Amino acid sequence: MLVRIPNLLSQEEVAQCRGLLSRSQWVDGKVTAGAQSAGAKHNLQIPEDSPDAREIGSLILGKLGRSELFTSAALAMKVFPPLFNRYDAGMAFDTHIDNAIRFMPASLTGGASIRVRTDMSATLFLTDPADYDGGELVVLDTYGEHRVKLPAGDMVLYSATSRHHVTPVTRGSRWSSFFWIQSMVRDEAARTMLFDLDSAIQGLRTKVSDTSEVVGLTGLYHNLLRRWADS
Ligand code: NI
Repeated sequence: MLVRIPNLLSQEEVAQCRGLLSRSQWVDGKVTAGAQSAGAKHNLQIPEDSPDAREIGSLILGKLGRSELFTSAALAMKVFPPLFNRYDAGMAFDTHIDNAIRFMPASLTGGASIRVRTDMSATLFLTDPADYDGGELVVLDTYGEHRVKLPAGDMVLYSATSRHHVTPVTRGSRWSSFFWIQSMVRDEAARTMLFDLDSAIQGLRTKVSDTSEVVGLTGLYHNLLRRWADS
């Protein structure tokens, strides 16, 4: 499943994020990479516990909570605190797979050890596509290769089980936020069917009133969710 979430952030919010990021300290992106991906990763990141990163991260988490599309597609149980990366000219991230389990930084959890199983990966674009060349997110799944380069403020949600890479930036600079989601519905096929069913019901509700058939389908959705969700 690969889902585009348009306008998660407004252009004013993108500008606010970029303002905070531009004054932040950027470090080598290998700090959060696993052993295989460290060799493939050539970019810059904001440190996980940076106050600026946490401020923007809170803004993003708030917007996610109000997005019906994100709620329906992710059925999120836990969201990893958003991270931020930057690819300047010559930087890229070769083919890799994201670590299955991520640990939230102890400095953000009050010392508690909180793990997130990465069911889905998210990239929120913070640079307009006209401002850089290259820098496409390429996701490889069972349906083939998907090339993603979205307007600033748009987000893509995709399966963390996929292999993916970011093509080299050849002009300008590409900034984004990235993070992972542990879903209440671990099985990807079940999660995808729930999303398809919910999308169809929402579409139907705009065409007909809440007939007994629509109520019946809504009940079916919730009963499937009750059957498949961990909480
Ligand atoms: Ni990745």
